Formats: sequence, structure tokens, C-alpha cells
Amino acid sequence: MDRIRIVGGHQLNGSIQISGAKNAALPLMIASLLTDEALTLENLPRLADVSMLVRILGNHGVDYSINGKRPGEAAIAGQTVHLRAERVVDTTAPYDLVSKMRASFWVVAPLLARMGEARVSLPGGCAIGTRPVDLLLMALERLGADIEIENGYVIAKAPHGLKGAEIEFPKVTVGGTHTALMAAVLAHGKTVLINPAREPEVVDLAECLIKMGAKIKGAGTSVIEIDGVAKLGGARHAVLPDRIETGTYAMAVAMTGGDVMLQGARPELLQGALDSLVQAGAKVSATNEGLRIQRNGAGISPVDITTEPFPGFPTDLQAQFMALMTRAGGSSRIRETIFENRFMHVSELSRLGARIRLEGDAAIVDGVDKLNGAQVMATDLRASVSLVIAALAAEGETTVSRVYHLDRGFEHLEHKLGQCGAHIERLSNPG
Ligand code: EPZ
Repeated sequence: MDRIRIVGGHQLNGSIQISGAKNAALPLMIASLLTDEALTLENLPRLADVSMLVRILGNHGVDYSINGKRPGEAAIAGQTVHLRAERVVDTTAPYDLVSKMRASFWVVAPLLARMGEARVSLPGGCAIGTRPVDLLLMALERLGADIEIENGYVIAKAPHGLKGAEIEFPKVTVGGTHTALMAAVLAHGKTVLINPAREPEVVDLAECLIKMGAKIKGAGTSVIEIDGVAKLGGARHAVLPDRIETGTYAMAVAMTGGDVMLQGARPELLQGALDSLVQAGAKVSATNEGLRIQRNGAGISPVDITTEPFPGFPTDLQAQFMALMTRAGGSSRIRETIFENRFMHVSELSRLGARIRLEGDAAIVDGVDKLNGAQVMATDLRASVSLVIAALAAEGETTVSRVYHLDRGFEHLEHKLGQCGAHIERLSNPG
């Protein structure tokens, strides 16, 4: 298994191209199941999760083709792919695939809406919590689906089609909102989603569905209205820039000091996190090119944060912000309210010399003057990148193992950080 080796203590200076968002790309790709025409997605990131989803969709009958890279095109430029589900050949999503990537559970919605049936394995728990799917199933039931659980599989049926309904979410769920949207676009009549997720990835999915012929109003607000249509067609859509990748590199620059332009980043996608970064002492400026992050001279100030659904501080940046706070001049309190078990990085950050204690759903971080390199490993992708951020500022050498977590969500991480002056390399380890 590969490892990443980092020698800390080097400022970051230069520019980094922000990739298309993983968490927008996945539901957009799944939406290709809703039509027999081609869905073309531009700016699709090159990530392990994207390749895995291509395989999963291939099982259902989705053909996939990719535009070749033209000479001179930067290796980092997003890819353009064409996905076409002319015929759905299988409505079953098996355990061995769904358990590898939870988001693939969302195929239940387009399969049910288009084919009237779906048999999809329950995903099971994961490293950051139990992550139930009860609200996704509630939404499908409200739309008239008959749902049964048998041998670890959800069997959803709507032989006469889905029917529009009012669906109120007692808790904000991104996956629940994606599922409800993809099911309701082909339902008979009108659906109203109350308290849906307002995350930018939901808006991106809705915009793509609208291009495919769906009638959706209000995505990004607390009520979404959908008028079902009989059929959707093909479309061309560019995946929005990754706000979590943006925030991650912004925190890396705040950590090491320096001056980096995050090209293509859109500040409105992560304003909550940027406000916290400014409080911590970084200078953040939006330009035509993207987002410029600087920290020169000033120390890192402690800042308390609480993770919340959009537009609050995203849970997917909590670990990275905690890494930054390990070097703050004082104590900060980091509260996680979205997932119950998303502090697995605490013990690994402590191996680098961080002083962190857990109090219920909060971590209290006492900033230290210096971190020291060590061997670390992580349990999920945001936790692993928090270790990379800490290592960039640690004295000496750090090796991060289980790099496959990073490859799921960060495109060309070593290259992007390396070209800004980080001493970072990938070590291939046959063991
Ligand atoms: C999405 O997961 C993201 N994944 C996650 O990113 C992200 O952390 C999360 O949204 C929150 O922003 C993708 O987009 C692929 P939820 P999702 O449904 O949709 C509870 C990453 O690192 N809940 O919004 O699975 C749930 O347990 C990943 O890129 C129910 O109780 O998250 C959690 O506490 C990790 N019942 C809360 O809601 C349900 O039926 C929010 O989960 C569904 C969810």
C-alpha cells in the first residue's frame, strides 16, 4: 500500500487548480440512469470514487466514454465524460459494490423512478458513524413506493409509477435530498420537499436535472418544488468546483504561511469556513481567477467552530480546521453535530504532538508551539488530509499510510501541494 511522505516546515506559495467536486460528481453521474439519452459531464475529477461509480453504473447498463486529453492540456484539467443508460439491464446494486461506496445507494431513486423497481444493498456503517438511510426510504415511501428489507437489501417497488407528495425532512440530509429529487422528477404530479439540504451539490444536481427537462424550483432554499415529467433527456453540465478541496488547501496555506491562488474556487460555496479562517489570521481575497489565501507573519488565532448543514461550517472541513487549530496561540473548541463518530483523527494528530481532549461532541484543542513528524494513518478521507495539513507544519518527517483514503477524494494531492513548495512524495510500498 502506498504512503505519503512529508517533510514539514515549508511555506506554500504559488497556485493550485481546484477540481470538480466529488460530492457533486457522484449524484450527477447517478442521474444518468434517469434517461435513455447521453448525459455529458465536464470537469469531472479523476478520483477513485468516480472510477468506482463508473463500474457500479456499468452494472446497471450505463455506457461510459471519455474524451481523450488533447496535446498540451494540463494533466490536472477535469475530464469530460459521456454517460448513457440507453437500456437499464439490471436493477440490482449488490453488497460488494454498495459497501465500498455509500453514495452508490442513491441509485435506488433513479432505478425506481424509471424502471418501477430497484433492489439495492443497504450500505452498512462506516468510519464516521452509523449513517442510516431511514430518511431516504421515508422519502421514497412518501412518493408511493412499496419498500421491504430482505437479506440486507432494500427492495423498492412502484409498478405504476411514483406519485408526487409533500415530504418533510425532520433532519437535513444531503443523500435524502438527492434521492427525493431524483425520484420526484419522474413522479406523477407535484412534490414539495420541506427542510431539504441546501448544500451547493444539491443545487448542482437540480440545475443538471433542469437541463435534462425536469421542473424544479427552489433548490438551495428550505422548500423545493418539483413538477414531475414523463421523460427526461440528455444534457451537458459542468461539475461545480470542490468547496471541500478549496477549504482544505486554504487551511493548508493558513497552517504553513505563504500565498496561494486557488484557481477556479468560488468563495460563496464555503463562506462559513472562510470566515473562520479569517478569524484564525488568514487573509482571504476573492479575485476573477479564484480565491487568494495568505498568511504572512501573524500567528494563528484560536477559533471555536460548530459543524452545521450548509451554509454553516461543513463537517467535511472539521478535521482540517482542527489540524490548523493544533498550532493556534490558545484553546479552541470544535463541535461536531453532523456525525457522531467523526473524531478519529484526534488520536493521530496527537501522535504529531497535538494536545486535544474530547468532551462529548466537542474536541478541545490546546495550541502547541511545535508539532513533530511521526508515522500516522487515518480512517477516512477528510481525516487523512488533516494529517497532511498537520505534517506540512511539523518539524521533520511524517509518513501517512492508507493513502487510498486520500485518493478517494483529492485529485493529484502531492502534485498540487508539491508545486507550491511542499516537500511531499508518494512512496510505493509493495507490503
Ligand atoms: C454527504 O453524505 C456527503 N457525501 C458527506 O461527505 C458529507 O459529510 C455529508 O453529506 C454531510 O454534509 C456525499 O455527498 C457523497 P447526510 P450523506 O445524509 O448524504 C443522518 C465526504 O467526506 N441521516 O447529509 O450520507 C446522518 O447519519 C463525505 O466526502 C439519518 O439520520 O450525509 C448524519 O448524521 C463523508 N438518516 C446526517 O443525517 C438518513 O436517512 C447528515 O447525513 C440519512 C442521514
